[in-house]
Amino acid sequence: MDSRAQEVLAQVAEIGQSDLRWKDGRAFSLAYYAGPEVQEVADRAYAMYGSTNGLNADAFPSLKKFQAEVVSTVNRWVHGDEQSAGFMTSGGTESILLAVKAARERGRREFGITQPNVVLPTSAHAAFEKACYYFGLESRRVAVLADWRADVDAMQQATDENTVLVVGSAPQYPQGVVDPIVDIAAIARQRNINCHVDACMGGVTLTFLEQLGEPIPLWDFRVDGVTSISVDLHKYGYTAKGASVILHRDRKLRSYQTFMTDNWLGGLYGSSGVLGTKSGGPMAAAWAVMNYLGDDGYRQLTQSARATTRQLADAIQTIDGLQLRAYPDSTLLSFGAQGFDVFAVADELALHGWYVDRQAPPDSLHCTVNAVHHQVIDEFIVDLGHAVTKVRDAGSTGTAGAYGTIE
Ligand SMILES: Cc1ncc(COP(=O)(O)O)c(C=O)c1O
Repeated sequence: MDSRAQEVLAQVAEIGQSDLRWKDGRAFSLAYYAGPEVQEVADRAYAMYGSTNGLNADAFPSLKKFQAEVVSTVNRWVHGDEQSAGFMTSGGTESILLAVKAARERGRREFGITQPNVVLPTSAHAAFEKACYYFGLESRRVAVLADWRADVDAMQQATDENTVLVVGSAPQYPQGVVDPIVDIAAIARQRNINCHVDACMGGVTLTFLEQLGEPIPLWDFRVDGVTSISVDLHKYGYTAKGASVILHRDRKLRSYQTFMTDNWLGGLYGSSGVLGTKSGGPMAAAWAVMNYLGDDGYRQLTQSARATTRQLADAIQTIDGLQLRAYPDSTLLSFGAQGFDVFAVADELALHGWYVDRQAPPDSLHCTVNAVHHQVIDEFIVDLGHAVTKVRDAGSTGTAGAYGTIE
């Protein structure tokens, strides 16, 4: 490498100095870390294929193989069979966009529905809103129950002859609980429409928690009526960003996801996803990390993240004034405060280098606990206790937060 290249790369590293210290476990959001070995496997595989193009996997048989094997592994995890089929996408949002688009398309082609709606709990991810907005569907949000799970009776009542999709999450992001998927899927079965399970967060974790003997309610293709499932690999799959899987129960359902046109001067153009050109890096990294870790590796990482989550949840319940929203079903939790401003607690934690999500309604802090956190959880719990005491004594107020780019 010449000296100019070295100089530029040193600058690239330098520019990241003020980023979240996610590899140190200081971030309870946005990034996941399973240690230096896993990271190196992901980074090196990514670097080898970062400039290849997944637009045409026939031209890159490597990417075809990576995708086929990654999808097949996830299909096995979620108890799909040889009929079920899917694709890799760039992330949870793209998987959800495609699930909504596929439901709209099925409704249009099979039932002539031109004013489609989606019935979903208020807890379902913002990406469903984006999908409805992009693709012209009505989003019918239904309030959740006191335990933050979907209110299935109210969802049933919200459906009508224009409903093309019902949604459940495993788990939902805001409070970390799993929706009653069996009952939500029954609505879909009865109406012969799509039911998407958003397992972007929980697809890996719930799979291995069940293997570890935890009582996990059924949420995957074992549930009659579930037509599609999204599982993100760039979260609890601990691979590089840009990797999720969407699976459909069969190839016909999957066909509604694909876009095809010859209405231009370039010939037939087919695309399974939202993107055109897309990097092969995330596919290679996902394949590499999944083969490196194997089921045994994921089981261990899941066990560790779950134990850490329990430790944090138990501690929050003993800190005076904090209110755990729900006992976590997997590895996500949120909590509010009584008598003081919970966002001021987040500000105080930030002064000690911790990053937690701020969400509302209701005003809450949110932690996405992963394998990296076992080494810091004792310190975090101590700092959380101190932050609460300080905020309570000072009566300070904090700043609310927002996800993503607001400009
Ligand atoms: C339950 C759930 N679904 C979907 C998404 C969207 O995933 P992504 O940010 O990868 O697009 C998230 C992100 O946190 C999520 O928690």
